[in-house]
Amino acid sequence: MQYSFTGGATMEHKRLKGFPEDFLWGSASAAYQVEGAWESDGKGRSVWDEFVRIPGKTFKETTGDVAVDHYHRYKEDVALMAEQGLKAYRFSIAWSRVIPQGNGEPNEAGLLFYDNLIDELISYGIEPIVTLYHWDLPQSLQDQYGGFESRQIVKDFTDYAELVFQRYGDRVRYWVTLNEQNVFISHGYSRASHPPGVTDSKRMFLANHHANLVNASAIAKFRELGLAGKIGPSFAYGPNYALDASPKNVLAAENAEEFNAHLWMDVYAWGEYPPIVMNYLEANGIAPVVTTEDQKLLKKGTPDFMGVNYYQTNTNAYNPLDGVSEGKMNTTGQKGTSEESGIPGLFKTVTNPHLEKTNWDWEIDPTGLRIGLRRIASRYHLPILITENGLGEYDKLTAENEIHDQYRIDYLRAHALAVQEAITDGVEMLGYCTWSFTDLLSWLNGYQKRYGFVYVDRDETDEKELARFKKDSFYWYKDVIASNGANLE
Ligand code: BG6
Repeated sequence: MQYSFTGGATMEHKRLKGFPEDFLWGSASAAYQVEGAWESDGKGRSVWDEFVRIPGKTFKETTGDVAVDHYHRYKEDVALMAEQGLKAYRFSIAWSRVIPQGNGEPNEAGLLFYDNLIDELISYGIEPIVTLYHWDLPQSLQDQYGGFESRQIVKDFTDYAELVFQRYGDRVRYWVTLNEQNVFISHGYSRASHPPGVTDSKRMFLANHHANLVNASAIAKFRELGLAGKIGPSFAYGPNYALDASPKNVLAAENAEEFNAHLWMDVYAWGEYPPIVMNYLEANGIAPVVTTEDQKLLKKGTPDFMGVNYYQTNTNAYNPLDGVSEGKMNTTGQKGTSEESGIPGLFKTVTNPHLEKTNWDWEIDPTGLRIGLRRIASRYHLPILITENGLGEYDKLTAENEIHDQYRIDYLRAHALAVQEAITDGVEMLGYCTWSFTDLLSWLNGYQKRYGFVYVDRDETDEKELARFKKDSFYWYKDVIASNGANLE
């Protein structure tokens, strides 16, 4: 497999700036996707533990019951990180592991697991970046009061955040509040492809408002505790382009940027909903009620950085009122099976004729990363931490247990170079975490869509021995880190 694309762009610089000395070259994961041990040591069930058991929801009915068994093999995995020279490892805490019911009694065994993981990382000089929430809501909270549809979630989440801030705050300096609120809310309440599997716009914007309050309240609690360190959300940003210069398509792209990006990032950075979006929601009777108290909290809980998960850009075109809505996603890896998606009357996302696609139909666009970083820096004046970026592809294990993933090296090199170009443009960057360190469960796509530097030998139907093998990209990133990115050009 070979992709052809370049990281270069206009606004060329004679010389690129170097990466900052303390730049966090990292890699990332999420609890449900790696840990396994879904019922071990007092862990409660999460909404994903239940959702994957509904027939037809995931590729070949895959679950994270065992995942890549990081819960039992974290020492082996961290040793591999150390061998690579990783500066930072981003992982998430499973809320239901540390508070099985989401509220009430904590679970000491669960808390201890993260103590051990953090200590292991620190013993090798690897900076832990801890995500509080990567989609695995305790099922009990969904049952008690409908999860994010109730304001009760704000108190329960803040209590959970306080518990882990107090427990790990002496060793953890980087915190991520919510991972991809835009994804878990829209997939959960519009596409029904994530839990709780709802399709209802009004409920979606209510749940989303509560998630905004959760984010702000956790940040406010962090400040109140006076902990050293930085905190911010991770946003899934796909910068929006117009298909061409036709004003109708340009307006569609503006709509997409408002509804796909400003709707979330304006609230994070400024504590304010964008007026164009609010006006639309009110006109359609789907706006959440935002009280004066809410407004105060949103303004109080603003972040130290914008975390960005970047995979692709979106190219937009005019979409009439009777136009397309949510189209089918490609979760099988059969290229060309995804359909157009959009919001009737606002925009639709179309194929960009200038970009190549992966086997899961994700467009590859390193320059889009640079554009996105610049947009965020210009609009919000915040430093940026890339919390995810990577290529999901089929990998082949050779008879010699090697994995020649040159396509992943090409992808990551082009994107890391785009980061360096953004730094040269004047964007303040804290770090770059690839997705992912080991292979892991790709929520809806099973185990065949691989992202890691470390191959994990299992598939959808056979867990095998879960042996770890270093891919060619493992060694490539090792050199990048050792040279602090000097060898990218
Ligand atoms: C992000 C998530 O959406 O992208 C990760 O934060 C996820 O959890 C990653 O795995 C890649 O998406 P996918 O669907 O290919 O696994």
